[in-house]
Order: sequence, then C-alpha cells, then structure tokens
Amino acid sequence: MRRRADAGTNRRRPGAFHGRSPARHALMTTFLTDDPAAAAAVLRQGGAVAFPTETVYGLGARAFAPDALRRIFEAKGRPSDNPLILHLATAEQLPLVAASVPPAARRLLDAFTPGPLTLVLPRHPDVPRIATAGLDTVGVRVPAHPLAHAFLSACGEPVAAPSANRSGRPSPTTWEAVQADLDGRIDAILRGAPASVGLESTVVDVTGDVPVVLRAGAVTLEALRAICPGATLVATADQHRRSPGTRHRHYAPTARVQLVDAAREAAPDPEAGYIGLDAPPHRAVFGLVAVCPDVASYAQQLFDFFRRCEAAGLHTVFCQRVASTGLGLALMDRLQRAAQA
Ligand code: TXA
Ligand code: MG
Repeated sequence: MRRRADAGTNRRRPGAFHGRSPARHALMTTFLTDDPAAAAAVLRQGGAVAFPTETVYGLGARAFAPDALRRIFEAKGRPSDNPLILHLATAEQLPLVAASVPPAARRLLDAFTPGPLTLVLPRHPDVPRIATAGLDTVGVRVPAHPLAHAFLSACGEPVAAPSANRSGRPSPTTWEAVQADLDGRIDAILRGAPASVGLESTVVDVTGDVPVVLRAGAVTLEALRAICPGATLVATADQHRRSPGTRHRHYAPTARVQLVDAAREAAPDPEAGYIGLDAPPHRAVFGLVAVCPDVASYAQQLFDFFRRCEAAGLHTVFCQRVASTGLGLALMDRLQRAAQA
C-alpha cells in the first residue's frame, strides 16, 4: 500500500525518518506522497507533514509533542506568539483538546462542521503551551476535505497545523506552492488537488457571551448569524490582541498589490498583473490576467495568482475590490492585508 502511488516520485521512504530534529543547517529530503496512510506514518514519528484541506494546505505535526511543534515554527520561520489550529478527524475528538464546549460552539459545530470553520475554545490543560502560544484558549478545526479526513483519521490523534507557507508568504492552495516554500525544510507533502475554497478558515471565538469572528472566511458572518444571531466581527481596535495571527505581515509581495474599484483604473502594463470580476480594457497588454466569474472563484484563485505574478517577475498586481458581504468580507480582508504588506 505504501509503495503504491509513490513509485517514480518517491524521494524518501516514510520509514527513513527517525523522529530526530534535522541538523539545523542541512536541508532534508521532502517525501512526496499521494497516500494519506504513508503521510500519517511520517507524522506519527514526529515529522512535519503538509496536507491538503478545502481552505489551504496545512503543515501538520503531533499536537501533543512539543518537539514536533517546534519543527513547524522552525520550518515556516513562524513567530512563536502566533498560535496553531488543532485539526481533528471528527468533532468527537474535541474533549482531547478543549476543556469545555460552550452551547454556542455546539450549535456552530452542528451547523458547519466538518468545514472551513475554526472555533476558539477553552484550552484543555494537556495541550502544550507552544501550540497555543501561551493562550488559555485553543483553535480547533475539523476539515471537510476527504484526503484531509483520511490523513487525520490515519494519524489517530489531533494534528496542529498552520498554513503550509513560509511565514509572510501567501497561504498555499496547491501542493506545488507548498513545495516552492518548504521543500527541504519539512518531512513530507501529501499531494491533493488545488484547494477548493482558497482562503483560510473562518476563526470564531466562542469563549465569550457572543461569538466573535476573529478572521473572516468561507463560513460567512451572515451564515453564522443565522445560527447565532448575536455573532459579531472583531473590532479593529481589538484585532491584534485577540487574533495574534493578524499582528504579523500576511503576504510580503515582491510585487506591489494595488486595489482598484473598477477594472479601467488598472494601468495596462506588460509587467503588471490584474485579477478581478470585470475584464480590464486592453487585457492583452497585461503580463497576467484572471477574470473571475464570481467571488468564490476570485477567492479560490487569489493566492495562486499572487504566486504566479511573482514567478513571472511582475512588479504590480492590480486587484479589483468586491462588496464586503458574504465571502466578499474574507476576500476583502485578504486583499487589504496584501495591499498593506
Ligand atoms: O484554513 C485554515 O485555517 C488553515 C488550514 C490549514 O486549516 N490554517 C491556517 O492556520 O490558516 P494559520 O496558522 O495560518 O492561521 C491560524 C489563525 C491565526 O490567525 C491565529 O492567530 C488564529 O488562527 N488562532 C489560532 N489559535 C487561536 C486562539 N487560541 N485564539 C485566537 N486566535 C487563534
Ligand atoms: Mg497562515
């Protein structure tokens, strides 16, 4: 089974990993596999393993093994004050990581799990401090992606996983993007199809009186309010304190990201890219163009488009603004962060 799909691209066998930290300065060989059981075997030995989810690819390690968690922070160059999301195969594993599940959390779990939703819950005392960056809360997610589910089931334990990019880079929506950022720095990549959502999960803090959205995502504020009418978006003034991930640069482009309201505001330039809902005039003049049929497709393509523009050496990426409703709230959040970087 292990040897099956890997013939030809297999650059390393899962059994070759001995669970020790790699030499700091030597690059390791990153094992590529299509087999969730083989990827899980590497993780169970203490490895750092990238895997697909419906939002973006994650970089997983054993949630209860501080040494394995440290390797994630090292591989990504991630600041230690940014907590990790714990991924579960099913919501039945929640008692392993959360001290309690408040009633609002239960309702949101019933409505949106498995799916692109992360709940911030009271932390179980067994969850290592390094996973939560010292917080008393823990972010927990049950992905809906079939390969993620197969991988997490084969792991048989909670898996801590940030997005599988170098810190500051766009989140990876393809396994090739993971490889571009982390080849030689992580133990394995479980290869799947491109992520269908393309933006990271909605993060909702359910430890207070009302659910607070810390990061917008594909589970929209409108959908959350249909279940919990009091749900609110975190106040800008509170965001850095309550949502540590937003303190850090989100996407450090080598290309400048410039937001435009209308496609005609994008100046045609062979060294610029354009992405939006409307076609720009003189589209043939741009270096790269993506005209998206709807907001979902725009969200799905955005991070990959950023990477393609960088690879093409473009100096500017024009991005058309969208209305901040539904999934548009998450898309505008990521666009604004990219434009500020
Ligand atoms: O879709 C996703 O969420 C992907 C996939 C792999 O699941 N993961 C992801 O992880 O985007 P990461 O580490 O790139 O972003 C995690 C976000 C950060 O903004 C972090 O601050 C927040 O979740 N977070 C995690 N635990 C938290 C906690 N206890 N309290 C507040 N925010 C938390
Ligand atoms: Mg991330």
